[in-house]
Formats: sequence, structure tokens, C-alpha cells
Amino acid sequence: MKHLLKLMDLSQKEITQILNLADQLKFEKKNGIEHHLLKGKTLGMIFSKSSTRTRVSFEVGMYDLGGSALFLSSRDLQIGRGEPVEDTARVLSRYLDGIMIRTFAQKEVEDLAEYGSIPIINGLTDYCHPCQVLADLMTIREYKGACAGNKLCYIGDGNNMTNSLIVGGIKMGMEVSVACPKGYEPDAEIMAWAKENGKFTCTEDVMEAAKDADVLYTDVWASMGQESEAEARKKIFKNYQINAEVMKVADEKAMVLHCLPAHREEEITAEVFEAHAKEIFDEAENRLHAQKAVLVKCLGEK
Ligand code: CP
Ligand code: NVA
Repeated sequence: MKHLLKLMDLSQKEITQILNLADQLKFEKKNGIEHHLLKGKTLGMIFSKSSTRTRVSFEVGMYDLGGSALFLSSRDLQIGRGEPVEDTARVLSRYLDGIMIRTFAQKEVEDLAEYGSIPIINGLTDYCHPCQVLADLMTIREYKGACAGNKLCYIGDGNNMTNSLIVGGIKMGMEVSVACPKGYEPDAEIMAWAKENGKFTCTEDVMEAAKDADVLYTDVWASMGQESEAEARKKIFKNYQINAEVMKVADEKAMVLHCLPAHREEEITAEVFEAHAKEIFDEAENRLHAQKAVLVKCLGEK
């Protein structure tokens, strides 16, 4: 695998291979077995937005694999002062073995891959969050035995998380339902693709979407970069919440996932969050194992 720019670029087989490797690396780490598969390799991590999980999982992941990681804030890089992506990509390709980037425009990630000569990993854009969804699929497999055959319901803003969950869920044989307010739907092309390639629905009706769901998922109402809309969004999204009423219509064994950070009493009640804290924090832990698998696939296999 050369890059991880978005899940749409991966086949079901490639996703499964990443998840299998992630499971193996998790098992081995728990049993004290070290794998320096990326010995001597260096990952640059460019951040134009905040991060806890992505930054720490990639940095610890590189350390676990025998390599090292450099935290590069776009505020400090010349890219933050207007140096073109084309030049940044060509320069960093001379120093590093791979780049993980978190930024706003998907095009910036695609341009890094086009102009650079090293693997590029998307650590979140406004369009998608593939690394998170690989950890999510890993967690669903852990709890449900498989992804295929389960219904994944996402409630909330049709954002970067939703776009990647739809693609990942459908590719792995899940039924996917989305409940969001009118005007806040996921990407139109992704929805059209999902309808053609699997069982997909998008509705304004939360209860309809959540009916018999095996996995309920939500994310913040206002994403990074939308801070000025936060107050207005609180009104628009107030009914798009995972709460006890929603849990009642889902499957009785339904699991709840959240990419975090979470806003209690907004997209999820504190009650539901705490009742499902085990799977939510297993999901957060799985970022480490899934990111290590992505790193090995992109930087380790030539
Ligand atoms: N879920 C996630 O990507 O978390 P961070 O923003 O903390 O990296
Ligand atoms: N949709 C959120 C995801 C954070 C992991 C954001 O972009 O801020």
C-alpha cells in the first residue's frame, strides 16, 4: 500500500489485511512481543488542527515499531506562511520515510502524495478520517465477531467521520443508516456510491435510522474549524443525540462508539456514554494498533 488518503482507495481485502495485522500487533504487544518492523524509519506528523489520539497513537506506534516520529505543527512550518505544498512535499521526501497529516482540505493531502515521493497518511481532513474508521472496524470485529451482517447507525452531523464510516461500513458488508438534519447530509457522491454498493439509508428520523442497529455511532455537532457555528448547531442538532430512548429501539446488544472527543448531553448523554465506556475506550486504544498496522503497510512493505 503506497498511501492512505481515503478508504475509498482500499479494497475490502486490503482493509481486512490491515485489521488482521492490527489484531496481531495488539495481541503481541499485550504479550510483550516487540516488532521493530520500521527500525530506523522516521515519520513526519504535520498538524494544522488539534489532536490527542491521532498524535499519540502515531508517535507511540512509530516508537513501538522501532522508528521515530517528528511532531510538526503547521503553525511552525513554512507551509503555515505560504510555502507551497508542492515544495514542502519534495523537501520532506528527502528527509523522511513517511508523512501523516491532519489538515482542512483533502486536496492538500492528495497534493502531498502527488508531489512527494514517500507514503502519505491522512490523519483527518474536513472530508474524511480513514485512520479512525479502521480502529472502529477493528473494534466492531472484536465485539461482534465480524463487520458483515451488522447494522451501523450514525446519528448527527454528516461530516468527515460519517463519510469514512459509510465507505468503511459498506466495504466491509455492513448495513449503514445515517440520521442527520436536512442540509447536513454526508458527501453526496459517497451516498450515491453507498446506495449502489450496499444497503444504505439517510433520513432525518433518528428512531428510523436506529431501529435494530447493532452499532450506534455519533460525533460532535461542530467539528474543528466550525467553532463559529457551534451555538447555531446546538439548536439544529438538539434531537440528534444517542440517549436512552434511542437505545431502546436499537438491538438489545447494541454497542456504542464515539471517535472522541465527546460532548456529553450534546451528541450523547452522559448516561449512555458511561454505560458504553468499555467499548468507547477500547475503540480509542485500537487507534494505536490500527495505526501501527497502517504504518507497517505504508512504510514497511515495499
Ligand atoms: N478521534 C480522534 O481523531 O481524536 P484526536 O482528535 O484526539 O486525534
Ligand atoms: N468531526 C470531528 C472529528 C474529530 C476526531 C472533527 O473533525 O473535529
